[in-house]
Amino acid sequence: MEFIDKLVLPQSADRIVLLKNLLILGQVIFFIFSGTLLASAILSRSFLRKGQKSGNGIFYRLSVDFIDLIATNKLLPIGLGIVPMLGIVMIYIQLMHGTGTKLIEYMLFASGLYVLAIFFIYVYRSDLLKKFGFLSTDYEDVDNHDDKVSQLTIDNKAKSSFIAEAIGFLGVISLVVTIRIFSACIFISGDPASWSTDLSVWSLVLSPGSLILFLNLITISFALAGISTIIKLVFWDRNHIIDMNYFTYIGNFNTTISLIFSYISTFLFFLNTVLTPAASQSTISYIILASTLCISLIYILLLQYNKEDYSFKLSPYAFYGILIVFFLVVFKENDAFGLASRKNTGEMAASYLQLEETLHPAPLGEMGEKGKEIYNMKCQACHRFDQKLVGPPHKEVMKKYFSDKQAMIDFVLKPRKVDPAYPDMPAQGLTPKEAKAVVEFMFKEFGSKIQ
Ligand code: HEC
Repeated sequence: MEFIDKLVLPQSADRIVLLKNLLILGQVIFFIFSGTLLASAILSRSFLRKGQKSGNGIFYRLSVDFIDLIATNKLLPIGLGIVPMLGIVMIYIQLMHGTGTKLIEYMLFASGLYVLAIFFIYVYRSDLLKKFGFLSTDYEDVDNHDDKVSQLTIDNKAKSSFIAEAIGFLGVISLVVTIRIFSACIFISGDPASWSTDLSVWSLVLSPGSLILFLNLITISFALAGISTIIKLVFWDRNHIIDMNYFTYIGNFNTTISLIFSYISTFLFFLNTVLTPAASQSTISYIILASTLCISLIYILLLQYNKEDYSFKLSPYAFYGILIVFFLVVFKENDAFGLASRKNTGEMAASYLQLEETLHPAPLGEMGEKGKEIYNMKCQACHRFDQKLVGPPHKEVMKKYFSDKQAMIDFVLKPRKVDPAYPDMPAQGLTPKEAKAVVEFMFKEFGSKIQ
């Protein structure tokens, strides 16, 4: 799509690193907000149903408290949902530029749907608050609650707020689809083998790895929504707790929700790591796996304790644990993307270097002179730019170091076996400073000629 290409700017290696970090930040915010919103909307709707069936005020109130968990004010979804989402899409547009992948189109579609989803959920919320909001705020008038509720239930059955409920349902469905598409895109972005241009919706949605990531994000969102409800109602809004009944009910219910979903999400995270393509696995993935399992174990124990202790004191610690694990789940996917996109971003950094070279050709400084000298004295014995001598031509080997010059410096300091078609390169006895000078000299000299 042409207009997308216009958004792409040349990116230097440093800026690519910055973009990748911003991507993690954006995704963490986006998924935590959207996941919790989804979980609280689903819980709210199911308690509304329960209330309608039984006419019990507790259920209506819980329905209101759930939808009010994170959708508290109208600016929140813009700051924590829409803005990070646009950021994510923009960054993928930059980093996957030139791969011709369809992922970007799917993400743009999902973005539109996301805005609709938020709108629907807020319409549902305001309808619910209009009818039952008094249950949460009007706590002085507790005695009359039951009468009001039964009156409302009758009215409600008679008139049936069908539209608001249907809109709530639409909101939930669109949010599920959005999160499904975003999680699939993020999973697939970590596996370059599937970036192909003709990526169909089905291969996007049905790939088992991406399905597991999606379920992992959803389950952890439920765990987070459960525990945050306790924290919000029990620790922040103390005044709102009007009776012991409600207090114990929400404490128990939410601890149970959090606990069940924590078990499932931990298992799914484990599966997800096992299913990540080998090319996208790194030592970091295993460290993340180990720390996630440890932290999950700790907060599951805390939740288990919460279940037996009716003051729910330990909830905040479990809450932080779940937040950290949420972060790690997102971080792990980005680690995979970082590895997978290395080739593409390396080429990007190379073309940036060329561009800069043509714009401002830099004079050689003192260290530059030193680099040139070492190059002529040592390296030229075995290397030429585009000719094979004892060692490979720079033209062929320097490309992969564009995004990571340090790796080339490390290689020059301590050569190791790379290509079996060549003999080993002997160490050149350079100091780190000298090695840096040579490598910088070589990029100045040859960087712009490497396509
Ligand atoms: C005695 C010969 C010799 C000298 C001197 C020499 N090299 Fe090499 N160089 C080689 C050989 C042989 C290889 C291929 C090694 C391999 O693929 O395992 C190589 C490979 C390389 C590579 C490619 C590494 C990769 O990842 O593919 C770079 C970069 C390099 N040399 C830089 C230098 C620099 C800079 C100097 C000067 C400080 C230098 N070489 C001096 C023989 C030499």
